[in-house]
Amino acid sequence: MGAKTRSAKGFYFYFVDEGLNGGYKMKKITSLLWVLLIAVGLLAAGCGGEEKKTSSAPAAKEELIVGTEPSFAPFEFPEKDSKEFTGFDMDLIRAIAKEMGYKKCTIKNMGFDALIPAINSGNLDVAIAGFTITEERKQQVLFSQPYYKSGLALVVRKENNAVKAFEDLKGKTIAVQLGTTGALHAEKLKGQGTVVKTFNTSDLACIELKNKGADAVISDLPVLQYFLKNGGSEYAKLVGEPLTAEDYGIVISKKNPELAKNIDKALDTLKKNGTYDKLYEKWFGSKPAK
Ligand code: ARG
Repeated sequence: MGAKTRSAKGFYFYFVDEGLNGGYKMKKITSLLWVLLIAVGLLAAGCGGEEKKTSSAPAAKEELIVGTEPSFAPFEFPEKDSKEFTGFDMDLIRAIAKEMGYKKCTIKNMGFDALIPAINSGNLDVAIAGFTITEERKQQVLFSQPYYKSGLALVVRKENNAVKAFEDLKGKTIAVQLGTTGALHAEKLKGQGTVVKTFNTSDLACIELKNKGADAVISDLPVLQYFLKNGGSEYAKLVGEPLTAEDYGIVISKKNPELAKNIDKALDTLKKNGTYDKLYEKWFGSKPAK
């Protein structure tokens, strides 16, 4: 008669019942003990292995794969005479990766509306692209703690005196970037003759305004301010009050809550040790409002 023991790890041990007479009894007990010992040993080894995986995660520490859409200065944009991207987000994510102990931080350029799908398919570890934390996006992904306070604003061509605020956009043509909160807001104004034109990048929306293909651009205030300061004010101006208070967050897959926790921890550290303030001042010229 053969007996079967199963350890929690799924290994089977067979031992033979060597007879019922007393002579074999001792042998039987010893072999039972051996089986138990081996099973316990294997179990411990198995648990140990798993523990190692989550605590030091050597493979995962090699490279952090980051996605962005770099038409969003001063958060992410191509660095002059270089293949690298620069901006507040880029500096911040590189500092976060370093703080978390990654050897390498690789930044990939994608369409804005492709970033969340790429997070969910596992092609990216994180996405940082001036992402506003919204309830709708929270259904799909995890966000880090907020790292920047933003809001929507409106620019029109300099000579335009008809549009002074969002309420004046009725019947006008609005240019926006695909998949953004600006696009979402413009959609709400659609109808009654209002037309919304969507573009793959934020830059293209502003070019449409320049070329008189649109009356207004709705985008994030700091991005529009940067655009005006860097040549845009030749033909465009900011009008009205910035619309909503939005918070930017770093996007992480729902399958990776551990990574989200570690990013928050790294952000806490960078906020405490002054790195965050230094980067903020570098890109926005002032200390963040407390
Ligand atoms: N904050 C806005 C949003 O979340 C716009 C972000 C656009 N970002 C970019 N890198 N183009 O929808």
